[in-house]
Amino acid sequence: MLTNRPRGVNDILPGDVEKWQWIERTARDVCRRFNVSEIRTPIFEHTELFTRGVGETTDIVEKEMYSFQDRGERSLTLRPEGTASAVRAFVENKMHAQPQPTKLFYIGPMFRYERPQAGRYRQFHQFGAEVIGVNDPSVDAEIIALAMTFFTELGLKNITLEINSVGSPESREVYRNVLREHLAPVKDQLCKDCQSRYDRNPMRILDCKVDACKQLIVNPPFMLDHLTEEDTTHFAQVREYLDSFGVDYKVNPRMVRGLDYYTQTAFEFIESGSTLSGGGRYNGMVQQLGGPDLSGIGFAVGIERVLIALQNQAVQVPLETGIDVFLVALGEAAQKRSVTLLQELRTTGLVADKDYLGKSMKAQMKAADRLKARQVVLLGDDELAAGIANVKNMETGEQVSVPLSELVEKLQQKL
Ligand code: HAM
Repeated sequence: MLTNRPRGVNDILPGDVEKWQWIERTARDVCRRFNVSEIRTPIFEHTELFTRGVGETTDIVEKEMYSFQDRGERSLTLRPEGTASAVRAFVENKMHAQPQPTKLFYIGPMFRYERPQAGRYRQFHQFGAEVIGVNDPSVDAEIIALAMTFFTELGLKNITLEINSVGSPESREVYRNVLREHLAPVKDQLCKDCQSRYDRNPMRILDCKVDACKQLIVNPPFMLDHLTEEDTTHFAQVREYLDSFGVDYKVNPRMVRGLDYYTQTAFEFIESGSTLSGGGRYNGMVQQLGGPDLSGIGFAVGIERVLIALQNQAVQVPLETGIDVFLVALGEAAQKRSVTLLQELRTTGLVADKDYLGKSMKAQMKAADRLKARQVVLLGDDELAAGIANVKNMETGEQVSVPLSELVEKLQQKL
């Protein structure tokens, strides 16, 4: 137990962590251009935030939350997603008192008790963005374009964008009854979960993964055919803006997102059958969580799934490798001097390292190779006494002698 991590969580090791940093840098960079600011919310919240915000009939709330009692007997939950937290922070910090919209992004771990498999973990990471306070369809298109720009800049290709409208509460009220009527003849044959969904939230039945249910649900009516005029216009305008951006998409009338808060626009980005990102509008949430009646829209990307897609598509991740300088010191006095020299190099901005185990010259040169050092400084007791060091350019093999007093400056110039 002591040396095994819990099921469904991962260590991100050196070698991989640089890819994460590059993905995170790209996310921050794209958000900066879209004028979206970072928000960092706590990793745990009051359980009620998610039961109310995400919705009682979702898989997340029904069976996937990591909830616990703290020592003060409060029920807390490790965040399963970022939207409810962002909206809670928006309301609590009275961000609605500022001119709208409020544009926020977050990057961080989320927790869901799911059955682990490739691309599905119990601790996973999301990059998400939320725009609160504007209901204009151009914002729906903008948020979709932000996600698309992120994927494009990572070098990912063949990403399908699917969009749908899941309607406003008024549209859904009508649609729910139409759907119930359609499903009534097979209601008793549906799985237990679906039978309970039938009364509480029949749209979720369309998303059931049980084969028997899938077979029973033939030609269901679609939400898209039962939208109010306002919802129809909103959806048409979102599509128009996407067309004007040159963003390709497919309308998928079957798409039911797994969270209850969506209204109107819903969308997913899919690569080789894996959903990299999902999002949509959530116009009731701000008010439901105690704020004013403001709309919201956003998405979240699963970073682990992006990494899998990058690997599948053999995208070359631009990683910084190697170090600027490796110090090879031989002899006691030279060893001692190399410690302070290393500090000087690092404080001037160079990436530098040395051997700490008193290894032979050959072994130290090997270490320099392994670390892909661009320059090696060779310092022996004799050189030290003469006030010089030898600097070897590892690319050309050229070696020059440099006075110690000029060493740091010379090394900086070379790089
Ligand atoms: P979601 O569809 O639940 O939406 O998750 C978004 C993305 O997170 C998924 O498309 C997937 O890439 C990743 N993801 C979800 N669960 C796991 C898991 N167990 N392991 C690995 N990756 C996972 C939301 O979370 C919404 N908050 C998105 C949103 C933001 N809607 C509006 N604003």
